[in-house]
Amino acid sequence: MIIVMKLKIIKDSNPIMRKVSQEVPLPLSSEDKELLDEMLEYLKLSQDDEYAEKHNIKAGVGLAAIQVGVLKRMFVIYYHDDEGKEVSYQIVNPKIIETSIKKCALANGEGCLSVDNPYNGLSHRYFKINMEAFDALQNKKVHIIARGYDAIVLQHEYDHLDGKFFYDRIDKNNPNKQLEGEILI
Ligand code: NI
Repeated sequence: MIIVMKLKIIKDSNPIMRKVSQEVPLPLSSEDKELLDEMLEYLKLSQDDEYAEKHNIKAGVGLAAIQVGVLKRMFVIYYHDDEGKEVSYQIVNPKIIETSIKKCALANGEGCLSVDNPYNGLSHRYFKINMEAFDALQNKKVHIIARGYDAIVLQHEYDHLDGKFFYDRIDKNNPNKQLEGEILI
């Protein structure tokens, strides 16, 4: 727990959050693996109501290295899906190699550990993506085919590696306008 609290989440007001993160050398160094482990532990603890309240932290399902001040193309994901299945990754050097034409968005909007201000509107995303990456949790190269919510979470974290936020994808003039054929989740 002492290790975990070392991580401090950087907010979007900090210009570092707009920087593009760098590719990570593979095989992964022990420092990079340790950071990914700490980040994953942070997410797990953030979903523990008692812990989160005590330490005044928000619950999150994804966290990118840049959010803890490390400009490397790495992020972690942790949540349980609708069927209660654990979705957990330590993603390194991801590439989105395929996207659907179909779009989707979270009906109630996205949130982010680095964003305190509320933003109203739909963040338009691809409904389905094929992501290639190294997963340090499985210690191998993976191809993740994700749809709907799973795809949104991966795209949200991927955006952080390029210095982007979910609110960049909201149409300022028409924040709640659904695209043609877009699925709301
Ligand atoms: Ni975020």
